Amino acid sequence: MSEQTLSNLLKEDRRFEPPADLAEHANLTAEAYERADADYEAFWAEQAGRLSWETPFERVLDWDDAPFAKWFVGGRINAAYNCVDRHVEAGHGDRVALHFVGEPVDDTRDLTYAQLKDEVSQAANALTALGVETGDRVAIYMPMIPEAVIAMLACARIGAPHTVVFGGFSSDALATRLADCKAKAIVTADGGYRRGAPSALKPAVDEARAKAASNGHDVSKVLVVQRTGQDLETWDDDVDVWWHDAVGSASTEHACEFFDAEHPLFVMYTSGTTGKPKGILHTTGGYLTGSAYTHWAVFDLKPETDVYWCTADIGWITGHSYITYGPMANGATQVLYEGTPDSPERGRWWDIIEKYGVTLFYTAPTAIRSFMKQGREIPDGRDLSSLRLLGSVGEPINPEAYVWYRHVIGADKTPVVDTWWQTETGSIMISPLPGVTHGKPGSAMIPIPGISAEVVDDEGNPVPDGSGGLLVLTKPWPSMLRTIYGDDERYVDTYWSRFRKQGYYFAGDGAKKDTDGDLWVLGRVDDVMNVSGHRLSTTEIESALVSHPKVAEAAVVGAQDEDTGQAVCAFVILTDEAGDGGKDIVEDLRNHVRKEIGPIAKPRQVMVVAELPKTRSGKIMRRLLKDVAENREVGDVTTLADSSVMDLISKGSKASS
Ligand code: WTA
Repeated sequence: MSEQTLSNLLKEDRRFEPPADLAEHANLTAEAYERADADYEAFWAEQAGRLSWETPFERVLDWDDAPFAKWFVGGRINAAYNCVDRHVEAGHGDRVALHFVGEPVDDTRDLTYAQLKDEVSQAANALTALGVETGDRVAIYMPMIPEAVIAMLACARIGAPHTVVFGGFSSDALATRLADCKAKAIVTADGGYRRGAPSALKPAVDEARAKAASNGHDVSKVLVVQRTGQDLETWDDDVDVWWHDAVGSASTEHACEFFDAEHPLFVMYTSGTTGKPKGILHTTGGYLTGSAYTHWAVFDLKPETDVYWCTADIGWITGHSYITYGPMANGATQVLYEGTPDSPERGRWWDIIEKYGVTLFYTAPTAIRSFMKQGREIPDGRDLSSLRLLGSVGEPINPEAYVWYRHVIGADKTPVVDTWWQTETGSIMISPLPGVTHGKPGSAMIPIPGISAEVVDDEGNPVPDGSGGLLVLTKPWPSMLRTIYGDDERYVDTYWSRFRKQGYYFAGDGAKKDTDGDLWVLGRVDDVMNVSGHRLSTTEIESALVSHPKVAEAAVVGAQDEDTGQAVCAFVILTDEAGDGGKDIVEDLRNHVRKEIGPIAKPRQVMVVAELPKTRSGKIMRRLLKDVAENREVGDVTTLADSSVMDLISKGSKASS
C-alpha cells in the first residue's frame, strides 16, 4: 500500500454507531475492557467457565517456561463433548446444528445436535476400530460437507489431533503435510462438487500416500466418504474403507474420555517465510476457550435465535475456529455450504441467506470486492433483511468495500466487524465489539477484552498515535499456538526472538495507529503474501518454480491486485539448456506451480528475465521486483551488486506487457 493511499485511509472520517437495539442487548459491553485489564487471569478463567470441564483447572496460566505456555493447568476437558453432547444434555438436542447446503441446488440436509452426537460417536468408534489411538494424527482432506466437521469432532473426541488439509491443495502439498505430522489415517471423500461438476479428491490422496511412502512414512488407513459417486481409479482393500461401511455400522454410543487441557487438538499448516509449511499446534482447553469466547463476544451470538454463516473452508483456520469449534461450543445453528459463490449462478450466497434467514454473516474482503464488481442488482434482488451483523476476515478490508458491504448487504443497519487474527493466534484478537465500538471503515479498531496488542518500532517501543510500525501482542492468550509441530526452535525464532527482551509475540504484520489510537493492519512485513485472504510463502512458490527442469532461478513477489488483494508475480531465469524456453514457457510455469501447490498459488504473471537484482551479499531485492510488478518507478538501487540489472528487467517487463 502506498504512503498516499495510507494517509488517505487514515483520514477516514466516516463513523457508524452500534444499533441501539444491539447495544442494549449486547453479549459483551464496555465494562469488559476494564474488567479484563484489572484482572486478566480472572477474566480468562471466567471465559473458560463457558466450557464444561470434567476436572476444574487449578491454575489459569503457567508462563514460567515462556514462550511455552500452559493454560488452565490441571483441567480436564473434551472438545467434542463441549461442542455436541452438552447441548443435547441441556435439552437442545432438537436444535439444528448444521443447515448443510450442497452445491447442487436442493441437495440440502439439516443435522440437529442430537443427530450430530450420534454421528460423531459413530465416527469416533470407527476411527478407533481402524486402529487410531489417542495421540495419533489424522489428516482430513475433504469437501465442505457435514462429514468434514464430524471427522474433526470425532478426532477430538478420541484425542487424536487432526490436520485438515485444504481440499484445493495438490497431492504434493498433502504428501508433505502427511509426512511432517506422520499421519496414521486420512479421512477423505471420492470428491466434492465444484462449479457444477464433481471434482475428484481420492486420486490426490492415493498419490500423496504413495509419495509419503517413498519418503518413509506409511499411512495405514483411508476412510472415504461417498459424496459424488464418481468412479475411483484405484481402491486398495488393505487401506481404503468406505465411511458408510465403517461409520454407518458403528455404535452411536461412545463414552468420551477427558484429556488434559494441554492435550493437542490439531495441527494446522500455514505458510511461513521458508519453503517448508509450519505445523501450528493448538491445544484443547485454551483454544476452545478462545474460539468460544470470541465467537460469542464478536458475533454477539444468541444461540436460540441466530442463524450464523461463515463462508470459509474447513481447510483454513477460520473454518476451524468459526465453523467447527467456536460456534459449536456455543450451541449455534449455522449454515455449511459446499460450493462456490457463483454456482449455479451469481446470487447463490444471497439465496442461501434468504432461505435460511441468516442473521450473522462472516466472509472475506476478496469475496466482497468480487460482488461489488458484479453490481448491487444481484443482492438487491433477494431479501437479506434477516442480517443483523457482518464480519470480515483474512486481509485488510478497504474502506470502499466495507461501506458497500454495510450499505448493500447490511441495508445500513448492520455493524461490520473487521476481525484481525492469524492461524497462530487461534481466535480473533483485534476487532470492534458490535454493541460497543463505532465502526470506522478500514480499521480493525482495538484488541478485544483480554487481549493486549501494540504497534512498536524496531526496538520494541510503542509508536505514538498517528504513526506506523510492527504489530505485536504483548501478553500471552489462551488460544495462542503452543509451538510449531516438531520444531520448538523455529517456534521461538519465528515469533518470539524479534522482541525477546520485551517478551512480545511478533505477528509478522505491519500496522498503524491513527490519531484516535485505533489500529489499521497493513499486511505482512515478511516474505508471506496474502492472495484472496490465503497465506502463501514466496519461498514455497520459488521452490516450486525451480523444481521445473527449465528454471535456474526464481524470485516471487506479491503485487497489489484489485481483486485478490495481492497477486503472485514471478521472475524467473531459465537454464542455459532451456534457451528461450519455447513459446508456452509462461503458461507451462504457471501450470507447474498450480500442480505443485494448488490453484491458489498459480502466478498471475511470470516474467522471464536474464538476471535478478541482488545485493552484494547475494540476497534478492524483492522490493525492486515489486516495483516492477506494480508498474512503479523502481526505487533505490544503490545496494545492488550490479545496478544495471533493474534497467534490463524493467525494459523486459514493459516489452512483455
Ligand atoms: C492477514 C486468517 C488485515 C494478516 C484468520 C495476518 C488481516 C494473516 C486480517 C493471517 C484483517 C487476517 N485485517 N489483515 N482483518 N485478518 N489478516 O493465518 O496479514 O490465514 O497475519 O489467518 O492474514 O492469515 P491466516
